[in-house]
Amino acid sequence: MQNYEDLEHRPRIVRIRDVKDETPTVKSIAFRDDQCSKGKPGQFVMIWIPGIDEVPMSLSMIGRDATSGVTVRKRGEATNALCAMKAGDQIGVRGPYGTFFTAGEEAKLLVAGGGTGIGALAPLIELPIMRKKDLTIVTGARTKTELIYLDRFKALHPMKKMRLVATTDDGSYGIKGLASSVVNTLLEKEKFDMTYACGPEPMMKTILDAAQKMDTPVQFSLERIFKCGVGICGSCSLGQYRVCRDGPVFSGDMLQGISEFGKTKRDSAGRIIPI
Ligand SMILES: Cc1cc2nc3c(=O)[nH]c(=O)nc-3n(C[C@H](O)[C@H](O)[C@H](O)COP(=O)(O)OP(=O)(O)OC[C@H]3O[C@@H](n4cnc5c(N)ncnc54)[C@H](O)[C@@H]3O)c2cc1C
Ligand code: FES
Repeated sequence: MQNYEDLEHRPRIVRIRDVKDETPTVKSIAFRDDQCSKGKPGQFVMIWIPGIDEVPMSLSMIGRDATSGVTVRKRGEATNALCAMKAGDQIGVRGPYGTFFTAGEEAKLLVAGGGTGIGALAPLIELPIMRKKDLTIVTGARTKTELIYLDRFKALHPMKKMRLVATTDDGSYGIKGLASSVVNTLLEKEKFDMTYACGPEPMMKTILDAAQKMDTPVQFSLERIFKCGVGICGSCSLGQYRVCRDGPVFSGDMLQGISEFGKTKRDSAGRIIPI
């Protein structure tokens, strides 16, 4: 049961501290907010762009110094407006909301991000507990210039037992092909204790099928159209779940038997459309 008096439900106006170009179509936007700095990897915030819209974004930075942030791909009106903002501009923030990725005793982990999906996974990869893990990161993009965070992850190398694999659809960097193909090959060859993923849903469906064959548990972050972000409006329905409230991070057991997963979603008018 949600308690709407909790601090995370109170919209805050924050000033953008920094805007970083990640790729020609993706920017990371940093701001200072005490609630967000208490967020957990995989949680999302609702970002209000004054006069335009309010949209869900995964926290891609959760700073202990209260600096947090989101990594945004330009898609439509709201994301283009957000990417056009500069340091000093103001936005609204609610949250962080939703379920989150958990890392326990498991020793050997596989983390797979497609496009900006790696943004939701970055705070997980940077958790102090990950230093003790045998970690494989697969990050995929359409082309070399759209790959994000390679330097951010490479900087972790000296501290961690970490393997970083990049894929591009056009072969301009790393392995040519889809991140999901590389993940499935890894799942067939090696035994992982947990697989985490965030990216296009067909990619996650392919990974789920492969992981289940190999008996590897998964945690996936899903996207749907979010309006309220707190379980009221139903625009984010997926089977019996409301993705904003019961997710966005789901286990494979929760997704088992959800026939819509990887196949259909609702558009902004609530109609069911193919993914
Ligand atoms: C939990 C969650 C985390 C997300 N994290 C990120 C992130 O870290 N970085 C990022 O770039 N994007 C993220 N998104 C997607 C982002 O919210 C949409 O791209 C954005 O809302 C599009 O708005 P727009 O006005 O720019 O585009 P529009 O022109 O409104 O839409 C473009 C496309 O975006 C999708 N979309 C539109 N509105 C929403 C909405 N309210 N919720 C979800 N999808 C929508 C639709 O599929 C639509 O076809 C996340 C979505 C969810 C649900
Ligand atoms: S966005 Fe309203 S119920 Fe999920």
